[in-house]
Amino acid sequence: MNTLTRSIPFPLQERFYRGLTGSLKYVGKALALIIRPPEIFAGPGASLLLCDALAGTGAKRLLLVTDAMLVKLGIVEPLRARLEAQGVAVTVYDGVLPDPRIEQVEEALAMLRRDGCQAVLAVGGGSAMDAAKIVAACASNDKAILEMAGFFKVANAPLPIYCIPTTAGTGSEVSVGAVISDPANKRKLPIIDHKLVPRMAALDGRLMTGLPRAGTAATGMDALTHAVEAYIARIATPESDQYALEAVSLIMRHLPRVMADGSDEDSRQMMSWAAYRAGMALNRAGLGYTHGIAHNFGGYYHTPHGWANAIVLPYVLEYSKPACTGRLAELARVSGLAAGGEGEAELADKFIAHIRQLKQDCGIPEGLKDLREADIPAIAEAALQEAHFTYAVPRYMDQATCEAVVRQMLV
Ligand SMILES: NC(=O)c1ccc[n+]([C@@H]2O[C@H](COP(=O)([O-])OP(=O)(O)OC[C@H]3O[C@@H](n4cnc5c(N)ncnc54)[C@H](O)[C@@H]3O)[C@@H](O)[C@H]2O)c1
Ligand SMILES: [Fe+2]
Repeated sequence: MNTLTRSIPFPLQERFYRGLTGSLKYVGKALALIIRPPEIFAGPGASLLLCDALAGTGAKRLLLVTDAMLVKLGIVEPLRARLEAQGVAVTVYDGVLPDPRIEQVEEALAMLRRDGCQAVLAVGGGSAMDAAKIVAACASNDKAILEMAGFFKVANAPLPIYCIPTTAGTGSEVSVGAVISDPANKRKLPIIDHKLVPRMAALDGRLMTGLPRAGTAATGMDALTHAVEAYIARIATPESDQYALEAVSLIMRHLPRVMADGSDEDSRQMMSWAAYRAGMALNRAGLGYTHGIAHNFGGYYHTPHGWANAIVLPYVLEYSKPACTGRLAELARVSGLAAGGEGEAELADKFIAHIRQLKQDCGIPEGLKDLREADIPAIAEAALQEAHFTYAVPRYMDQATCEAVVRQMLV
């Protein structure tokens, strides 16, 4: 498709992409009608309440998908014990690695089948949640994992999915998406289907107090990027705007606090809520070029997802600004940056400058040291391929422009 469209002049291509992604607003509207948001438990100890509710569903055998670090930190054991005490036999798969791959999903699926598990509980960050969602989908669909990549290819309803996020970032606990890595082809592929929305999710900031600073920064910036990209998307709705603005306002207040003191339970809770709301915004309005480029940084260099987004976001906003100045100005207002009397353009600049400052305060560099000049054309091409067919971005880029934007991130 990309090769075909690239043979026609860019203004015509742009009209095609605008029409294609503009029509996604109808998909968003349809999703708003058919998505049943997860039942949410929020607050300290909410993860245990989710276990009680899960036990109450009558499930007798459960696959718990997590990673070895969370087992080591003692986060998994109280949850497993709570479930077992109520008669739920728990099989633990703790082999998830950051940016889960097909092999991990297959290992977990084999355990699920061996033990006849009836539901899947994810305990972890986006990696564990995405792996769990894909395992649940594979359990009821006789399809190769990569065949489900793209839109609405999960034919049969997955096994029931439950999520206990331990990072405040991806929004996978509410989102229609799950991302699978394909390292052989340097790709990360989204599987997008409303059937992947979990049944229940617990937003329990207490589980996040041990998350190290780098992980806190990266995941917080991921949530911020979801909210910002959803807010400037052309298909944003009043509903997605409300979620996005709430998320941005909370993140601007509470990310600096959890960076200063990771044990601040109240701010961890607020970040968890913000990530969830940002996930709701992206369910409706989608994402943009920042994610398109960041996914490729992940595919090429294994850059942590949120870290990659944080690096890319200000450059993409700078490029997008002429087409969304008013929206960026509004983001500046909800971030508390307006002193009064500034014009829209000045406020938009203030918002972008504030993101650069926030990055710096979080210890995230301006550019990506792994980035290689020789990779830029292929990264730009893949980013455009993802964005042009998936996101209603405010201002389009052609290949040369995208390369120039990415080139600014060379260190
Ligand atoms: N499904 C979606 O909608 C969606 C959206 C954005 C990103 N993603 C995907 O999510 C993945 C990234 O997820 P992530 O950013 O949450 O990181 P992650 O799940 O990869 O975890 C990163 C590291 O943090 C550790 N960790 C997690 N919680 C911890 C805690 N409470 N205390 C101490 N350590 C902890 C993990 O053990 C891991 O080593 C990527 O693969 C990305 O593509 C999915
Ligand atoms: Fe993301």
